[in-house]
Amino acid sequence: MPARGTPEETVRRPVRSYVLRQGRLSPAQARALDTLAPRYCLPYSREPVDFARVFGRRAPVVLEIGCGMGETTAAIAHAHPETDFVGIEVHGPGVGAILNRIEQAPLANLRVIQHDAVEVVDAMIPPGSLAGIHVYFPDPWPKKRHHKRRLLKPGFVHALASRLAPGGYLHAATDWAPYAGEILAVFESEPLLANTAQRYAPRPAWRPLTKFEARGLALGHEVVDILFRRA
Ligand SMILES: C[S@@+](CC[C@H](N)C(=O)[O-])C[C@H]1O[C@@H](n2cnc3c(N)ncnc32)[C@H](O)[C@@H]1O
Repeated sequence: MPARGTPEETVRRPVRSYVLRQGRLSPAQARALDTLAPRYCLPYSREPVDFARVFGRRAPVVLEIGCGMGETTAAIAHAHPETDFVGIEVHGPGVGAILNRIEQAPLANLRVIQHDAVEVVDAMIPPGSLAGIHVYFPDPWPKKRHHKRRLLKPGFVHALASRLAPGGYLHAATDWAPYAGEILAVFESEPLLANTAQRYAPRPAWRPLTKFEARGLALGHEVVDILFRRA
């Protein structure tokens, strides 16, 4: 095995859209990861997930990528008991926080996958299986040398579009103007997708303000929503 940081290792490691910092877990988050994950987390697997089996019913399924601390995820799931939601997040404290929200509400229609969303979509999400996908305030990676880390790139957007059922939607929001333009261009060039608006969409009433959005607004950033549908 090559030593850490050798050229071989650099070549083999995929560029990911996140950097896992070992954020400190609160006691409640650590407890949730120990005791609630077996109940509410879906383990990463190379097998496609059977949503009807996971939720014990056949209902529309919406995927959220990068749910952070999960306040928006939980609020949307609470407001839409007729729909099932799967949140993907890599950050341990965030996953712990979401698990606590599921338990406390309680939310029978929300599950979590703690793994890289790119690999989850590739391996676990069956084609044509989703009613919608939410990607709210993905890391903008503003420095040019970090642009390769951006999540919403053509290959991944094509994979996302292919997982939508006909009429399903792909909804992104960002407070970073250059990234907004880039996301719009990538969505527009994906043949499976059609814009629901001329350019940016109005924020749907059902999308609550997220934690990162509040931070962006406080800094004076303009927030835009981008909402496309699969034809
Ligand atoms: C800027 S935060 C936004 C969190 C939340 N959506 C909000 O608006 O408050 C982006 C989140 O996406 C997660 N993330 C980034 N890339 C990811 C990936 N490839 N798979 C899963 N989670 C990812 C990060 O860990 C982080 O929690």
